[in-house]
Amino acid sequence: MTMSDDHRVTRAANLIRTVLDFPKPGIRFRDITPLLGDVDAFGDVIDVMAEHAPANASVVCGVESRGFIFGTPLALRLGLGFVPIRKPGKLPGAVVEQSYDLEYGSTMLAIHTDALHPDDNVLLVDDLLATGGTLQASKRLVEQLGATVAQIQVVLELVGQPGRDSLIADGVQDLFAMIGIED
Ligand code: PRP
Ligand code: MG
Repeated sequence: MTMSDDHRVTRAANLIRTVLDFPKPGIRFRDITPLLGDVDAFGDVIDVMAEHAPANASVVCGVESRGFIFGTPLALRLGLGFVPIRKPGKLPGAVVEQSYDLEYGSTMLAIHTDALHPDDNVLLVDDLLATGGTLQASKRLVEQLGATVAQIQVVLELVGQPGRDSLIADGVQDLFAMIGIED
């Protein structure tokens, strides 16, 4: 595991539990529930995220489901609105959609077409970066609405997975991953 020498980050990293063979054999699941249950550590994570947010962010977008857990308190802490990027069939208004690949098959993400304006600078938040497929699709949704991704933040990056390189290849210039775990 690699991490910053910030004691808040170290404490948060130590509260992420690895569960072997969940949800299927061969997968090492990174369980954030012990971190969420510790109010001081959870608050510290939101503080660190806020400290790394770009000054020009105008809105926070979070990706269903676990991106909501960190994105909404971060938006409140920054004094910004929150826009959900959701799984298919959940948003009631007009949407744009993007499909992305899973290990087997593909799925979709969607955003309300009126949720962002072309002059928005979006802070895009999720809990975890692995292959990068989820955040690549989310970035495309933001850009379909004419807005700009100012920064992507994740709490946990699985180092060794292709997510970081994929996002950089897609033009992401500012990616803050609080905790890196060798996968
Ligand atoms: C997990 C995780 C990230 C994504 C990362 O979400 O919360 O969103 O996978 O993987 P990737 O970089 O390979 O795309 P998942 O779709 O499992 O669902 P959840 O957030 O609803 O739990
Ligand atoms: Mg997710």
